[in-house]
Parts: sequence; structure tokens; C-alpha cells
Amino acid sequence: MPQSVITNDDLSQIVDTNDEWISSRTGIKERRLVKEETTASMSAEAAKRALENAGIQPEEIDLIIVGTITGDYVTPSTACEVQAAIGAVNAVAFDINAACSGFLYGVSMAYAYMKCGIYKKALVIGAETLSKIMDWNDRSTCVLFGDGAGAAVLALSEDEENSGILAFEQGADGAKGMVLAGRDRKNNNPLVKNSTEPEYVHMDGQEVYKFAVTTVPESINRVLEKAGLKPDDIQYFLLHQANIRIIQSVSKRLHVPMDKFPISLDHCGNISAASVPILLDEVNKKGMLHKGDKIVMSGFGGGLTWGTCVLEW
Ligand code: UT7
Repeated sequence: MPQSVITNDDLSQIVDTNDEWISSRTGIKERRLVKEETTASMSAEAAKRALENAGIQPEEIDLIIVGTITGDYVTPSTACEVQAAIGAVNAVAFDINAACSGFLYGVSMAYAYMKCGIYKKALVIGAETLSKIMDWNDRSTCVLFGDGAGAAVLALSEDEENSGILAFEQGADGAKGMVLAGRDRKNNNPLVKNSTEPEYVHMDGQEVYKFAVTTVPESINRVLEKAGLKPDDIQYFLLHQANIRIIQSVSKRLHVPMDKFPISLDHCGNISAASVPILLDEVNKKGMLHKGDKIVMSGFGGGLTWGTCVLEW
């Protein structure tokens, strides 16, 4: 996470907002925003810590996937920058753009590569500096998002006992993509007249909200069905941290108490692809995960996209 903590009160100095509105509508109290840090620097730091935690050397990694919509360059990819920074000289490296589902899409790709026997050890990272693509005049979006990175090491297990990922469920609804959109840099082609549409992120919050509260419980139910599990079998549901009200609604629809939904959005805000891996790390560091626990992770948002998986820790 970046060093700089920005509270709701700090934001009220920038746009016409207040702590009461942000806290009650979203559950967010503060977020971190970059000053010196970049998407690549935070990704590399998260990657180093994940490797240390897994007891794996960078040279052992043969695949690096970074889920991000805010890479520092069009090329090289953030994943290639990470590869150089950590010395993962034997890795294939690329980014994927699946917004808030980026980490889950990345995990499913790493899993598929491993199942095919192509790669054996992967680093999957979710990383964003959303602050650079926000419209800081739009109070309905800029207060929601934060910056940060999270990483996980995935390894092909030889051990049948260690079942790891049990099932996936993913999807996309591109027809509704413009409800959460941000244009890329201006077109530099001299033959093309530049668009006057906003360059920064704009969102129809209520449409995204409706999408989330219907799609996420459906996706979780489908993934549980694939794995032959019931909501009661799950220790924790690690959801993308967009809004506490979305998480409360999912909890209600699944008839699962809120204490099975760990929360980081109060101090992180919405960090898109980085939300789920940061939450997973927090839960892990608090000692809340035990071998054999079954965990659901779910990301949802821009695209529109969603990705859910159930795994055995
Ligand atoms: O990771 C991607 C996924 N994104 C999401 O999941 C976002 C999903 N959507 C949401 O979380 C919610 O729709 C929001 C938090 C974005 C908005 O909450 P809402 O309850 O839908 O509020 P609203 O957009 O209906 O706005 C209500 C009022 C409006 O004023 P009027 O028209 O009622 O007078 C807004 O102008 O709140 C006003 N408002 C604000 N007031 C103070 C909007 N933003 C702010 C603000 N501070 N920051």
C-alpha cells in the first residue's frame, strides 16, 4: 500500500463531500493514494513479500500475471517491470485488463496453465493506481477508490491431499461496459479527430450496484454447486471491496452472517484488481486461515466482468 493515508475529511477539502456521506453510503473511512509509488513499484514489493511468505526464489517462478487497468506504461507491461525488479528471469510475464475481476481472472489463467502442465509456479498480482485515472471534480466517483497492490504465489501441488482451487465461475457482460468506463490516452493519430468525451473514469453507480448485488450471489451459488459445497461449508467469503452495502446484500441473499465476510474497504477503499489479494493477505496475516478451510474469493466490476473461485487453504 502507498504511504499516504487520505481520510474522508481530507477529501472534503478537494470536493463537496463529507465523512458522514462517504461512511454511511460506502463504509469507506480512508484510503491510500500514491505520491512516489507506481503500479510497478507496489506490484514488485507485493511480489517480493509473497515470494518470501511462500519460501520461493524468484528464479523458480515461470509465470507472472498482473491484473491492472492502471499500468505505468502501455509497454512494457507491469508484469515485465515486476519480472525485472524481482529477478524472476525464467518467467513469462503479461498483464490482463479485467478491472476489479483482474486478480480472479489471473488466478484462473494461472490454474489453467498449471492444469495443462505448461507452468508450475506463478505469481498473480492485482495492482492499481486508480488515483491517476479518477475525475477529481466528480465527488460520486473519486471518493470511492484507492491505490495499492496484492500478490499471491500459486504452485502446482504434487500432493493429492492439498486440493487448492476447487472450482471457478466467471463471466462478462460487455454490452453494459459503459456503465463504468474510462477512456485511454488521447489518440495521437493525425488523421483522427480527438473525442471530447471525458478521459477519466465515470460510473453509473446505481447500475453497477444492481449488477453487483444480483451477479455476485448468483456466481457464488454457481461456484459452490460446481464444487459440491453449500454456503455453510465456507469459512470466509473474500469479496471485492467496493461498498459495504453490496457485501451486506450478498450476505443477506446467501443467508450467511456478515462475520464470514472480512472487510478491508474501511481503510483501503475500492482498489479494483488489488482488493481481493490485499484482503486475502490481511486475513492470512491475522491468522484467520487454517489448513483445510474453504474460502470463496469473488471479484466484480468494470467490463462488466466477474470472477469467483472456491479454494481449500
Ligand atoms: O469496483 C467497481 C464497482 N463499483 C461499484 O460497485 C460501485 C457501486 N455503486 C455504489 O457503490 C453506489 O451507487 C455509490 C456509492 C457510487 C453511490 O451511492 P448511492 O446511494 O447510489 O448514491 P447516489 O448516486 O444515488 O447519490 C445520492 C446523492 C446525490 O444527491 P441528490 O441527487 O440526491 O441530491 C448525489 O449527488 O448523493 C450525492 N452524492 C454525494 N454527496 C456527498 C454523490 N456522491 C457524493 C459525495 N458526497 N461523495
